[in-house]
Order: sequence, then C-alpha cells, then structure tokens
Amino acid sequence: MEKTFLMVKPDGVQRNLIGEIVNRFEKKGFKLVGAKLMKVSEDLAKNHYAEHKERPFFGELVDFITSGPVFAMVWEGEKVISTAREMMGKTNPLEAAPGTVRGDFGITVGKNVIHGSDSPESSEREIGLFFNESEITTYDKQDSAWIY
Ligand code: TYD
Ligand code: MG
Repeated sequence: MEKTFLMVKPDGVQRNLIGEIVNRFEKKGFKLVGAKLMKVSEDLAKNHYAEHKERPFFGELVDFITSGPVFAMVWEGEKVISTAREMMGKTNPLEAAPGTVRGDFGITVGKNVIHGSDSPESSEREIGLFFNESEITTYDKQDSAWIY
C-alpha cells in the first residue's frame, strides 16, 4: 500500500496543531503507521531539503526546521501521496485554498505548518531519512464487535 511522509513543522507544533492535523488525515480514512516528536538535526535538515540547496531561502529553511520539535509521521492509503498534498494546500498559505491545512492555518510561506512528500520517490527517500523500519507498524483495521 502507498505510503507518504508528513511532518508538522515547528510552527505547527508550537501552535498546538498536531492533533488538528492528525485528525484531518485520520478522518479522511488514511492510516497512521508511524509517528514521533523529534528535533531535526542540521544534517538531517540539509539532507531532507537537498533539492533546494541552491535556493536563496535554503539557510532560513534549515534554520526554521531545526528551530524546535517537529511531529514526523508516516501515513498509508490509496493515493495518499497526492491526496495528502491536496489536503495540505499550496506552498504559499496565502494562495492555499480554504479547507486545506495551509489555507486554514498559515500566512507565511516559510512557516507553512506542514510538509508532505511530493512523489513516490521522495516519499521513499524521506521515510528512510526519518524512520527506521522498526518504527513503522502496518496493521489491518479490525472489523470487531468493539468498534462502533
Ligand atoms: P517546496 O518543496 O517548494 O514546497 P512544499 O513544501 O510545498 O513541497 O519548498 C519547501 C519549503 O521551503 C516550503 O514548504 C517553504 C520553504 N520555501 C520558502 O521559504 N520560500 C520559497 O520561496 C519557497 C518556494 C519555499
Ligand atoms: Mg517540496
């Protein structure tokens, strides 16, 4: 099953948005298969955002993502990579549609609350950067008498 890497950025953690964001993806029907609160090291930040290393905002981006804890997650489900990107909204929160995470909770392009992998290749790469295999727990949803 398709997996994606999502991360509540330091601004989202500081603003107590972890629950709100997890809630949206859970209610959509995607399955959380890995999650942890963590500090991102400078090495990990530079590696994660390597595609942007020549961009003028790279230094600020690395400073920001290492500035406080993030909530790193792996989500699973059909078409979860592209659907999560749509649920996040455009990179610039002022251009992101209402109803998206960035459209509802952000204003500044740098501090845009959430990261999500943009392709199967980046999903595989980013999950590998942030998670050990033992930290990912796949499981079946049970059709049990105790789920109402
Ligand atoms: P990018 O991968 O283009 O966006 P997305 O997060 O939607 O995949 O850029 C990575 C992050 O870099 C973005 O979330 C915020 C930051 N950024 C800036 O600070 N300034 C910019 O002009 C751009 C394009 C991105
Ligand atoms: Mg990106």
